[in-house]
Amino acid sequence: MAEQKKLLRALAGETQDVPPVWMMRQAGRYLPEYRATRAEAGDFLSLCYNPELAAEVTLQPIRRYGFDAAILFADILLLPQALGAKVWFVTGEGPRLSTITNQSDFNALGGVEAIHETLSPIYETLKILKSELPKETTLIGFAGAPWTVATYMIAGRGTPDQGPAHALKDTDRATFQQLIDLITDGTIEYLAKQIEAGAEVVKIFDSWAGSLKGQDFHDFALLPAKKIIQALNARYPNVPIIAFPREAGPAYEGFAKAVGAQCLAIDTKVDLEWAAKVLQPDSCVQGNLDPKLMVEGGDKLISETKRIKEALGNGPHIFNLGHGITPDADPANVDVMLKALRG
Ligand code: CP3
Repeated sequence: MAEQKKLLRALAGETQDVPPVWMMRQAGRYLPEYRATRAEAGDFLSLCYNPELAAEVTLQPIRRYGFDAAILFADILLLPQALGAKVWFVTGEGPRLSTITNQSDFNALGGVEAIHETLSPIYETLKILKSELPKETTLIGFAGAPWTVATYMIAGRGTPDQGPAHALKDTDRATFQQLIDLITDGTIEYLAKQIEAGAEVVKIFDSWAGSLKGQDFHDFALLPAKKIIQALNARYPNVPIIAFPREAGPAYEGFAKAVGAQCLAIDTKVDLEWAAKVLQPDSCVQGNLDPKLMVEGGDKLISETKRIKEALGNGPHIFNLGHGITPDADPANVDVMLKALRG
């Protein structure tokens, strides 16, 4: 039997001398070849819904750097669109959506059954990737976590403090809970189809989990993740899941076990010695190089890469950034990081 892929071995709990590596937002504007394909596609959403071009940009960082995993090129805001929200991107500013501020806005959304009609090109992208990826490269599918997706659906845009979503949660709990439940159910069906189309691992991005505290963190970050993972585990017991409750702080402790994830992605604020001692016994840990170092480069990029490799080297580890690589990153710094990591 062929040796198992490096990333899958880490997710199965194996400690490796050199960890598998990939980068959040590895297909993106810091790469000239991405900018060229994006120009060919027109706007960002057209690129997401064009299977040939979306597969092409997914493959670009694999060709250039030989990462151990490819992540589907898509966006967490495609599911809201498939549920009937209006979604568009303003260049230089970010996403815009129709807002959900009350029960009647919620009632205007469609049901979960209808999502696949909109999302079928995404499944097509995965099928292309499955046949085109090098045999050692793992294919990762993904979705946003319900809370993070809800913050955009409620506010109609990105917000620094997720204020509108907190306001709906605190003033109209019934509508808020219905929205969380709808996104949860939609995410289960969306990820199930991604797995059927070829995703070997799925990642759940809860980028704004850090703004939920105490009972709210339990109810709206932990419980929805657990529900999604339990449903997927029941249908696809061999597909590992990476959870990313970004900036959860002390609430990272016990999270992987509580939700049933095989891997916990950590942000740049998580202390490495703490992660090794408290998180790694429960699951594989993914992270957590500061994306700023991909802009700055230099000796610090090398020393931090080695420090992370060493600190998490006694347990299962996937090397990654603590958040997405930014458009101002220097592509040459990725080579510097890979050399420091792989030798
Ligand atoms: O990681 C990858 O390479 C795969 C593709 C991917 C994208 N977005 C492509 C993208 C993934 C996994 C995402 C996830 C995503 N999208 C998240 C969660 C992760 C995180 O970063 O916290 C969130 C919150 C979004 C929503 C979103 N999409 C925002 C807020 C923005 C605008 C900000 C920005 O970086 O421009 C996007 C746009 C987006 N998604 C781009 C890419 C490559 C840039 C679009 C462009 O080409 O102009």
